[in-house]
Amino acid sequence: MTPTILVTGATGYIGSHTCLELLEAGCLVVGIDNLSNSKEESLRRVRKLAGKDLTFIQCDLLDEAGLSRVFHDHQPSAVIHFAGLKAVGESVEKPLFYYKNNIGGTATLLGAMVEAQVKNIVFSSSCTVYGAPDELPIREDFPLEAVNPYGQTKLTIEYMLQHLYASDTRWNISILRYFNPVGAHTSGDIGEDPMGIPNNLMPYITQVAVGEREELSVFGGDYDTPDGTCVRDYIHVVDLARGHLKALEKLQENPGAIIHNLGTGQGYSVLDVIKAFEQATGIQIPFKIVARRPGDTTTVYADPNLAERDLNWKAELGIKEMCADAFRWQSKNPKGYL
Ligand code: WQD
Repeated sequence: MTPTILVTGATGYIGSHTCLELLEAGCLVVGIDNLSNSKEESLRRVRKLAGKDLTFIQCDLLDEAGLSRVFHDHQPSAVIHFAGLKAVGESVEKPLFYYKNNIGGTATLLGAMVEAQVKNIVFSSSCTVYGAPDELPIREDFPLEAVNPYGQTKLTIEYMLQHLYASDTRWNISILRYFNPVGAHTSGDIGEDPMGIPNNLMPYITQVAVGEREELSVFGGDYDTPDGTCVRDYIHVVDLARGHLKALEKLQENPGAIIHNLGTGQGYSVLDVIKAFEQATGIQIPFKIVARRPGDTTTVYADPNLAERDLNWKAELGIKEMCADAFRWQSKNPKGYL
């Protein structure tokens, strides 16, 4: 029987890319989203790219009755849980909003899963749960420390999932800790569509490249790195999406609760990314180095070996493709999904 996968946060950046990979892998997909931070247009384009249909239902994770109906009507065999607020700065300003939505929403989702007897979940966590690492590359057994409310919600949900598993070992739970997702599907028809001024580096660069923004501000040039700018592990969103399908496959082996980094293991500084973008697109990115952004960690990159070993997954797309694909999306959609 063809598996039905429920994807929460389906209209979002990573959610929409994962829905496309699921359809292309032959899964039936039911997507839910409250559309607070993304547009249903993303899934209209996913249907076109896949040449297949998927079901979308506008539903907030805090809507217990609505969620119960989704599980009753569609009987998914597994859930991929992306839905959540993810702006670090906003989480500092509005912590309760983040706790209610991210943690409260997940608790409601898990309650609906228990009621429907669905016990397979892949959870979108983040490298932010490691705080500022004492050594590099970062392994899954490193100390965990939330350095902002957003990161605290991810860490708390990880603990919720592990306690759930300890209470009922019939659950199969994959916790995926993303590093920095960037890029877009090669078609340029789906991509990252932040609301307002982008918090993240790559969408800011692509908006400068298409003339939507004047110049990039580089947050800090005096860090203890080769060129003084922060280093991150950028991973192509399509590689990331494919990692979720591998995690779903792994859950079929009844592994219990498992945790994996999804990164490339390669760090790039902000100036490296600017240079790579200019080489990949031929477009100069004007920038100025300004004060550090509070909360930024100097250097973060993954040890990706556990995912390669356990999930038979390894990132394959490099920084050139990340930049070229991100630019293609922004060029075709200068104002994102209208
Ligand atoms: C990357 C680097 C900035 C914007 C965050 C979350 C993480 C994940 C990804 C959700 C940093 C610099 C950025 C700009 C800049 N989100 N920068 N000018 O902060 O590593 O990670 O987003 O899961 O959890 O914490 O990503 O893209 O914001 O920043 O110089 O206009 O680019 O200082 O060094 P970050 P980012």
